[in-house]
Amino acid sequence: MSEHKRQRVLSGMRPSGKLHLGHLHGVLSNWKRLQDTYDCFFFVADWHALTTNYERPYEIPANIDEMLLDWLAVGIDPEKATIFVQSEIKEHAELHLLLSMITPLSWLERNPTYKEQRQELKEKDLATYGFLGYPVLQSADIIMYKANKVPVGVDQLPHVELTREITRRFNYLYGEVFPVPDPLLAEVPKLPGLDGRKMSKSYGNAIFLSDPPEVVEKKVATMVTDIERPRRSDPGDPEKRCVAFNLHKLYLSRERLEQIIDDCKSARLGCVQCKRELAHAIIEALSPIWKRRESLAARPERVKEILALGAKRARGVAADTMSQARSALWTRNVRSD
Ligand code: TRP
Repeated sequence: MSEHKRQRVLSGMRPSGKLHLGHLHGVLSNWKRLQDTYDCFFFVADWHALTTNYERPYEIPANIDEMLLDWLAVGIDPEKATIFVQSEIKEHAELHLLLSMITPLSWLERNPTYKEQRQELKEKDLATYGFLGYPVLQSADIIMYKANKVPVGVDQLPHVELTREITRRFNYLYGEVFPVPDPLLAEVPKLPGLDGRKMSKSYGNAIFLSDPPEVVEKKVATMVTDIERPRRSDPGDPEKRCVAFNLHKLYLSRERLEQIIDDCKSARLGCVQCKRELAHAIIEALSPIWKRRESLAARPERVKEILALGAKRARGVAADTMSQARSALWTRNVRSD
């Protein structure tokens, strides 16, 4: 299919620092698949990070670097996708401002993530203009590139829905400039952290992509297995009760899984040994990622080059879109007569 016919995909991530297996299986492997068929734009949402981290913005640049290394190491490919940092494309700020003029406050106040996060992050004062406008900035990110599809997790669906509403409103008021984007929900395998809760940096239960092999081994050894199997000689039930087994499913072959289920149920296989095998499988799968990460980390000028190229491409599209948006906005159209 020729370039201009390929559908456009856009997605972004806030720079939270080093990524973990949850990001790999939940987001990045999906992005990797998408970059082969769509015209993909993937960006680091550093201005979005500022909405909750405005008191410590100096932490953000290092987090951007770590995250980009992880993206590139897992195979997000600058030859296939446009990779850039939000704050380098000033047009996002302009479009955000224009969209803010037409976004009713009530749409933002009823946004579930706004309510939840203010509740959850009580120690931070999030009664700010910028935080309320978080999804308006996200809308600008998306429609700037006229994205058709936005791969996100369920937690982000309200933001894409809001983007759709804001886009329709812009088009209605000023003319059809922007396609209305669709969310693209990925099938995300359930990936609990070491303790069985969702894998998350803030829970301290994550295996990071950049953890060295010894650390992976240690972490996997602490993973919760079948708690109803306290003694080695007790039979277990990995499919029903074992947290570690969720990872086995991602890293071991179908045949080996069947064997493990059998051997666990008959108590032939103990948890310590079973997790050692898992750790080795994870280490093997991560090895090529570590290699690429290391060689990129040793060549910061290469990463800079990739970002400069991405910014150039992104800026080209953004400049184009903005001239269309401005011209629609400042010109009297049929509807305003
Ligand atoms: N809000 C998204 C998140 O926290 C990050 C993001 C910012 C984003 N702008 C976006 C995602 C545009 C998709 C499209 O995960």
